[in-house]
Amino acid sequence: MRVVFSLCVNRNLVLLGWLLFVFLGNSLIYAQSRKTVDFNTDWSFRLDSTSDYRNSAIEFTDWRKLDLPHDWSIELPFDSLSAGSSGTGYLSGGVGWYKKKFALSQSENAKRVYVEFGGIYENSEVWINDVYLGRRPNGYVPILYDLTAHVHKDGEPNVMTVKVDNSKQPNSRFYAGSGIYRNVKLIFTDEVAIAHHGTFYTTPVVEKGKAIVNARFEIIHHTSTLPNAISIETQIHDPTGRVVAKKMMQGIQFDGMKIGTVVQEFEIAAPRLWSPDHPELYRGVTVLRHGTRELDRYETVFGIRSFGFDAKYGFSINGAPMKIRGVCLHSDLGALGMAFNRSAARRQLQTMKNMGVNGIRTSHNPAASEFLDLCDEMGFIVMNETFDVWKHHKNPFDYHLYWDAWHERDFADHIKRDRNHPSLFVWCMGNEAQEQWHDPALGKSIPRRLAAIVDSLDGTRPTTIASNEMSLDNPVLMSTAVDLIGYNYNHRKWSTFPEDHPGRKFIVTESTSALASRGQYDLVPIDAMRIWPLRWDIPFDGGNPDKSISAYDHVHTPWGSTHEESLRLFEAYPHISGMYVWTGFDYLGEPTPYTWPARSSYFGIVDLAGFPKDVYYLYQSIWTEKDVLHLLPHWNWQNGDTVDVVAYYNNADEVELFVNGMSKGRRKKEEDKLHVRWTVPYQAGSLTVVAYRDGIEMRRTIRQTAGEAVRLVIKNMQDTIDAGNYELAFLEVVAVDVEGNEVPYFNDWVEVETKVGGTVVATDNGNPTDLTSFQSSKRKAYNGKLLAIVKSNKGDDKITVAVHAKGLKSASRQLVVK
Ligand code: GAL
Repeated sequence: MRVVFSLCVNRNLVLLGWLLFVFLGNSLIYAQSRKTVDFNTDWSFRLDSTSDYRNSAIEFTDWRKLDLPHDWSIELPFDSLSAGSSGTGYLSGGVGWYKKKFALSQSENAKRVYVEFGGIYENSEVWINDVYLGRRPNGYVPILYDLTAHVHKDGEPNVMTVKVDNSKQPNSRFYAGSGIYRNVKLIFTDEVAIAHHGTFYTTPVVEKGKAIVNARFEIIHHTSTLPNAISIETQIHDPTGRVVAKKMMQGIQFDGMKIGTVVQEFEIAAPRLWSPDHPELYRGVTVLRHGTRELDRYETVFGIRSFGFDAKYGFSINGAPMKIRGVCLHSDLGALGMAFNRSAARRQLQTMKNMGVNGIRTSHNPAASEFLDLCDEMGFIVMNETFDVWKHHKNPFDYHLYWDAWHERDFADHIKRDRNHPSLFVWCMGNEAQEQWHDPALGKSIPRRLAAIVDSLDGTRPTTIASNEMSLDNPVLMSTAVDLIGYNYNHRKWSTFPEDHPGRKFIVTESTSALASRGQYDLVPIDAMRIWPLRWDIPFDGGNPDKSISAYDHVHTPWGSTHEESLRLFEAYPHISGMYVWTGFDYLGEPTPYTWPARSSYFGIVDLAGFPKDVYYLYQSIWTEKDVLHLLPHWNWQNGDTVDVVAYYNNADEVELFVNGMSKGRRKKEEDKLHVRWTVPYQAGSLTVVAYRDGIEMRRTIRQTAGEAVRLVIKNMQDTIDAGNYELAFLEVVAVDVEGNEVPYFNDWVEVETKVGGTVVATDNGNPTDLTSFQSSKRKAYNGKLLAIVKSNKGDDKITVAVHAKGLKSASRQLVVK
């Protein structure tokens, strides 16, 4: 049997090869199959821009010991003079060195060894035992080095050294952290193996009764004598783990090539389709064998779904229309900085899911690959973004410096890493590129080039670019190389898109940019909108003296809108396939419209600590079926105050407000409003809103005037935590009065203490101007709330956390370590 498979060409980088399939009988000795090992623990770290530590003989026993992922910037003090300034949250960069001593056992002897860094910000260089492995300027893409020729595999110690140079600032418009801030793995494979990120599953046919799954494998070999009699077998496991299809090919021969492609195709009967509501995951398990010896076992998670974008009717998935109700998220995890943590990312995504969000835009760069795993599992329509900057800069030291030499490789690596994720639907190839205005030639050619890279490595997903210049002269906006036209803001032009761009498909890549501090309410008539700053290029000197921003959804940037305004428009027009609101969570840096001491954003629907602002319930009332009846503000004012009271609700005909039992009138959402409002004189006591359907009370929400705080309470906390470093527990701390009412003005110091086991990793309160270090276990509450993040230590079987505040009764809770 002799079968010739088609040539697979990666247009940009590598010419892949022909594979011929023949039966031959040479014997090869290979060690056991693939192994992936956590390489995060026991690193040594030093922040030092003056010395050179690349030499492996340098002693580092006195360096700081830590486990990765690690972000050193988040540990530095906020500094009003930091070069990154407000953009990066007044946290500084610098040069950091990481070293790790490790030994490999004899059993690894016959293997190839790779190290994979999930992301290093930025300009990393890596050495193994004094051998220079390379440099990578990009701070977000995965980085792989082959260690095989340079490591001792006989138990002798190896030293890996990583230099991270984030000293040239500013290099980002938002907080980007510093260091090896994502997971690191060692990967052991045989001399013949599936290449790194070398599988690609697509689903050319998706029907109710059957799906065709097409799987492409890049197989790589490093042997000098050509291996042969290699077989490849793939089993497809359905979401319950049952094997529903399998294929076997025998006699693969490498015809002089180092890398080649094999294709296997599967028919799946009655496939379980992936969607945000039913994120069904299949698993392809591929085994390479030589004779009966297993050379590699490679698992790929994928999904089966069909989707489309239509110029008139927007997005559909598996044949059904669906609006993409999305948010933009930066990669930082608030108090943890950029240091990736799966449980923190899961908490973010779960909070978004509960609000009715079904889409995430990973603005403006590759997210951690584990973040995409979570999106697969939890069900989100991901717009995957790679660049905030092309060849023209936004900051003096940003990616434009590396564009020419690196962008093709960085983009290709991002695509290859992520293209199997069923949650990935759109490639966003840029954001508000300067080329929109300043370089018509590059504005034309860059989108074409990037789209060609997507087509050559993926070809199953549309491309877009986030543009904020609406002129028809903008070459980026008008590029026919992209599939979807992406608007940032410009909500007044959404309705006329079909006339402005006949026949084109439309997505709102970014919207809103409204501003609020959680739990903060200014008693001004709320329909008088505040546009802060007045213009993007006019410095802002107004606002509140404490740099807070009122949370009635009545403050927005000049390029943005209120949440309600863009939400209403988005829902009204079927041609708008999706909208990604800026932003789901507050993030570090960009404290628009303020500067020092404001150090994190006001854009989030949820604050930096993960506590929802009021507009969270506006979205929830429109985007979910859950019964919503949310009332704002709190009910602790001065007698004589006139207070605007707002309710967000759904699943009811009308709502009625009562102050101390006296009706202030029934209201329903009028015209195109998504809220109701009363203006009432304040009177201490209770503020109650009742929702009615067909005249019958459906539910009620009460805000009680809170008295003095008497004790702390720990809320919304999980009961268990995983052993080891990775799972975190999130504790919400509030203060209550004698009656148990939460005290909305409680802003005092709280101390978080682990009495038994555990460590307090960080605290936060969602206040964008709080300059207390995030690692501090003492922090002031902000508008009644505080967050503490706790991890377990080695050997803990339970953890007791206590919280204390002066003059108040303490609270404590226990966590069982699993
Ligand atoms: C957009 C930009 C975002 C963020 C936002 C703030 O123009 O794409 O990164 O800066 O403005 O409103």
